[in-house]
Amino acid sequence: MADFIDGCVTAPKIQRIKICELADLPLLACREFHFSDSNGQETKGFVINAGQQLVAFKNACPHWGIELNWQPDRFLNFNKSHVICAVHGALFQIDDGLCIDGPCVFRKLQTYPVAVEKGVLYVLIKEPGNQNLQAAQRNIGDVI
Ligand code: FES
Repeated sequence: MADFIDGCVTAPKIQRIKICELADLPLLACREFHFSDSNGQETKGFVINAGQQLVAFKNACPHWGIELNWQPDRFLNFNKSHVICAVHGALFQIDDGLCIDGPCVFRKLQTYPVAVEKGVLYVLIKEPGNQNLQAAQRNIGDVI
């Protein structure tokens, strides 16, 4: 698909958010981050060092949209087996954010891709391209 049509379509952009040195995030530790989305809306998230993988989620419960933690960088339950909602005790799988117990069971936390470069951990936020993308795609469909 074309990225530019008469200058009205732009490809999605990737916002790269530096979190910390990977060495500063021990096993099963969490680290909060925040960023401004493409609409200027402040958005919060958190990263977990899950050992076999690094995972990043939006800090918003899928049913109420509120933040999951009640203390900075504290997102896991007591035995650190799941992400927990501090308000309702809902449990979410660490590897994919699926809720397995609580009012939003079978719904998932929003995930973000992560990257490690030269020992530094980043979260990658994909921002949508120009709002005219759908209109331009319709035009392409008309032409083709
Ligand atoms: S806000 Fe959804 S489980 Fe607590």
